[in-house]
Amino acid sequence: MASTFAVETRTRPPAAARGAIRIEDVVKIYDPDGAAVMAVDHCSLEIPAGEICMIVGPSGCGKTTLLNAIAGFHTITSGSIHLDGEMLCGPGKPKADPGADRIVVFQNGALFPWKTNLENVAFGPVVQGKMSKKEAHDKARAMMADAGLSGTEHNYPGEISSGVRRRVEIVRALMNDPSVLLFDEPYRALDSLTKSVMHEALLEIYYRNKVTIFFITHDLDEAIFLGHRIAVMTTRPCRPKKILEVDIPHPRDYSVLTSKRFRELMDETLGAVHEEAIKAFELGEKEG
Ligand SMILES: Nc1ncnc2c1ncn2[C@@H]1O[C@H](COP(=O)(O)OP(=O)(O)O)[C@@H](O)[C@H]1O
Ligand SMILES: [Mg+2]
Repeated sequence: MASTFAVETRTRPPAAARGAIRIEDVVKIYDPDGAAVMAVDHCSLEIPAGEICMIVGPSGCGKTTLLNAIAGFHTITSGSIHLDGEMLCGPGKPKADPGADRIVVFQNGALFPWKTNLENVAFGPVVQGKMSKKEAHDKARAMMADAGLSGTEHNYPGEISSGVRRRVEIVRALMNDPSVLLFDEPYRALDSLTKSVMHEALLEIYYRNKVTIFFITHDLDEAIFLGHRIAVMTTRPCRPKKILEVDIPHPRDYSVLTSKRFRELMDETLGAVHEEAIKAFELGEKEG
């Protein structure tokens, strides 16, 4: 994998060759038993290739619905979603092709405990028939080396530290060379120390791989620490209420959490999120 921006200091994402997402005027109405539930309302959001775009918003506002539309897990009612200028879904094609190699939904904690790390990383492309076992193992070995995982190939997930496991999970998600990784609150149940290990692993691997990241979270520290931008969504039906640029240069480490700029961004984000959370609370929204 290319490593062209690992040492650069930048607030904007690297100009990646692929992975630009354009969400345009997307509407999603669920219709359980004829009771129309509008989850997404004329939502437009452009995510440049290589950006880490964090999505925050009240529970039940429609964030997962949007992610599922990008992933091709369900249809949209109207509007369109493009990846690198190519329509994933839109007029005449309400559903994106799921499982497209270019878009991968990250699964936290999804390693098979009975397989070695190498077998876990190589597993996807082999079962999908995309690579021979040898090809997959060679590639997995190279990617693991790139992510600082040499020497752990033959360990089982239960034998390695959580920090190493996190790295293995991310490398596994990158095996098919996706241009976009989608995260749906993967670390929600974790304490802040464990999360910091996840974040470190994610950013470190991100700095070597030009991948676009669409990351839903409730955790504003996580949103500011990881993101180039944060889209604060309105209460249901969702669309961006406010987009904040996180003008803290990458690569970042945990010292930024105590910086003045971090606190300012936290205040700004919190203000926008809080307004919407109150509206959601009054509407009695439940998490979807
Ligand atoms: N399959 C479904 N059928 C009907 N309503 C749904 C379905 N999935 C989600 N919803 C509703 O859509 C709204 C948005 O849900 P969701 O996208 O999961 O929100 P979030 O991820 O922001 O918490 C919620 O009101 C939820 O109840
Ligand atoms: Mg959700």
